[in-house]
Amino acid sequence: MTVQSDAQRDKSGSWQPGVTSDPMLRKHGALGQPISRIDGPLKVEGKALFAAEYPYENICYAALVFSNIARGRITELDTMGAEKAPGVVLVMTYQNAPRMKAPSLMMSSPSSAGASDLPVMQNDEIHWNGQAVALVLGETQEQADFATSLIKVEYAALPAVTSFEEAKMRPRQLETLLGQPPILEIGDAEHALKASEVQVDNIYRTPRHNHNAIELHAATVAWKGDELRLHDATQMIDLTAGQLADMFDIDPEKVRVTSPYVGGGFGGKCLWDHQILACAAAKLAKRPVRIMLSREGVFRIVGGRTVTEQRVALGASGEGKLDAVIHTGIVAMTLHNSCPEQFTFPARHLYAAKTFRLAQEVADMDMMANTFMRAPGESVGTFALECALDELADKLGIDPIELRKRIEPEKDPTSGKAFSSRHLIEAYESGAKQFGWHRRSPTPRQQRDGEWLIGMGCATATYPYHRFPGTAARIRLTAVGHVTVSTAVHDMGMGTATAQVQHIAARLGVLTDHVTFEYGDSTLPRGVIAGGSTQTASIGGAVIAATEVFVEELLKLAGNASPLAGLSLADVEPRDGGIGHRDDLERFETYESILRRSGRNELVCQAEAAPPAEMQAFSMHSYGAQFCEVRVSDVTGETRVSRFLGSFDAGHILNAKTATSQFKGGIVMGIGLALTEETNFDERTGRIVNASLAEYHVPVQMDVPQIDIIYTDAADPQAPMGARGIGEIGITGVGAAVANAIFNATGKRIRDLPITLDKLI
Ligand code: MOS
Repeated sequence: MTVQSDAQRDKSGSWQPGVTSDPMLRKHGALGQPISRIDGPLKVEGKALFAAEYPYENICYAALVFSNIARGRITELDTMGAEKAPGVVLVMTYQNAPRMKAPSLMMSSPSSAGASDLPVMQNDEIHWNGQAVALVLGETQEQADFATSLIKVEYAALPAVTSFEEAKMRPRQLETLLGQPPILEIGDAEHALKASEVQVDNIYRTPRHNHNAIELHAATVAWKGDELRLHDATQMIDLTAGQLADMFDIDPEKVRVTSPYVGGGFGGKCLWDHQILACAAAKLAKRPVRIMLSREGVFRIVGGRTVTEQRVALGASGEGKLDAVIHTGIVAMTLHNSCPEQFTFPARHLYAAKTFRLAQEVADMDMMANTFMRAPGESVGTFALECALDELADKLGIDPIELRKRIEPEKDPTSGKAFSSRHLIEAYESGAKQFGWHRRSPTPRQQRDGEWLIGMGCATATYPYHRFPGTAARIRLTAVGHVTVSTAVHDMGMGTATAQVQHIAARLGVLTDHVTFEYGDSTLPRGVIAGGSTQTASIGGAVIAATEVFVEELLKLAGNASPLAGLSLADVEPRDGGIGHRDDLERFETYESILRRSGRNELVCQAEAAPPAEMQAFSMHSYGAQFCEVRVSDVTGETRVSRFLGSFDAGHILNAKTATSQFKGGIVMGIGLALTEETNFDERTGRIVNASLAEYHVPVQMDVPQIDIIYTDAADPQAPMGARGIGEIGITGVGAAVANAIFNATGKRIRDLPITLDKLI
């Protein structure tokens, strides 16, 4: 790597969140290159061990029995038959399970990982249809599975709320919406709506969705005395370790959770009852235990996206300025979880308007705790908001992209803060050009190919930037100049380790071959959850902090005999495998040389990221413009997405290849949200009746067309590495882009997801 001079270079050389930019923004190096995933070959060769693949001597296998009532008590448990069945090691129910504290709700403390705070198999109470009521350990999986069929459970059912319509009659006000006020009002929006020249006012509905990562939820557990070892498939190793320590009342130092490979997370790979029950059963049986949920099991005890009913009302002037934005509604939830599906968040930041009313409530049901699922809130919130905007554009007779230009705000429309970086209109313009938007007829039903009506639609994508405090990183430099950076974070297949190797190579001025990124182990310096599209920026902040300590330590070690003598942090930069003066190329010494002269074999430094002050100082969000072309059969109503383009503004892109895959993956999931995915929840019994991939339809290869991805690559001056998260934005706006394209093709507005063919004929 060579030195790049830059007149505007910040002389302090350091990043102060909310004040000065990351100096890396002007010195990219390996960053951005489309490097293939470093874990790719291991996976392709079958050498990467997943949670259910760790070998242990004397291991036994777990299977679960699920309740078939939604609320009540267990009155009788007959486990005799199962206990006598071949190969059965143990049957565990609430009657013999070890005593454990209840989990606490996710992120309510540094050791809280519970998706729900209900006790796990500690009493006879049933809280949802599908709750685990017994666990069988077998010498083989098949023996455990068979024995579950011999367990007889009798229940005394209590009245349960399993109908959303019924639950809606008793709405509950939230105290907080993920730290934000649940109701946000500016001016009198209802009055402004009535007084406006043009209005749209509609109800949009989105269904339940279940997590269906390819890798089933699994864990391998082993106790050694009071030390607990968990091989998990998780996106929160630290929280899981802390929570298990708390529940089993052991020293947190004695719990080690590792998760080097995860076959898809999307918010679903958290701490659920299966890991807790496996730990309990392993303790009781004094043997290592493997648990891998069946696909049905994932539907029974892993939460998903909850049902929403949303009103969006927009009032506008004839020229397309917004007088009123109203986005309100209700979601189904339980009393024992904390995921309110924040669908009103996008409207807080996207468009300029004179008045706002944004509010949401919850309706409590007796059901599995819902949880985070790729862009919780934003995915379904953008469906409603962006469909409404398309309806407004149609009523106004203004092109939908032109309308967005007219309502583009100069600063955050509700907080009044400056945007750290926003290029939404640029994303629309470049997307429209590449997609051929000019070929779209503003009038529906104008383009046809035999029985197929063809239409185009667009919608805005958006997702907030967030960085978690407390993330730490350790840098270890060896005598041969190899650098290992360690932090307890996750790579669920999205390329965390690959992008961080590129980042570290660029930041420390070494080749990517000389970098190892160590992650996926709760014994490493404190990491962050892989959630909320926050991990990359959080790691970035920690690596920046650790680099500063690293450079300072090296300057101390270099001493007076070095060309670096007398220089301080602000004078130097890592480059070319060492440290050099920022402006004087002659003053340079390699890492190896510094270590050698100081008689050291290695240097180890650790630091915690600076607090995320940038989030207080600025409105920080990623944006995008989603473009969809559909073909809808005029005979059967069948919809085929024939082309899709996502144009994103998500800060600096750290790896063109892995980022493109992330965006595409989000869009694929969005096509499912738009057209096929729906959890069929039997409102009489609270039972999920399509608990399989045969009946819960995720998009398959034939449902997904060529997807084109473009991006602005505009570095965010407030974010570490200039990068905002990209894990979730891809799914946002997709539902609306598809629905708007269907309107353009057919003239039909479908405001209920998924848009199945019966709704179009
Ligand atoms: Mo994401 S739903 O925060 O894994």
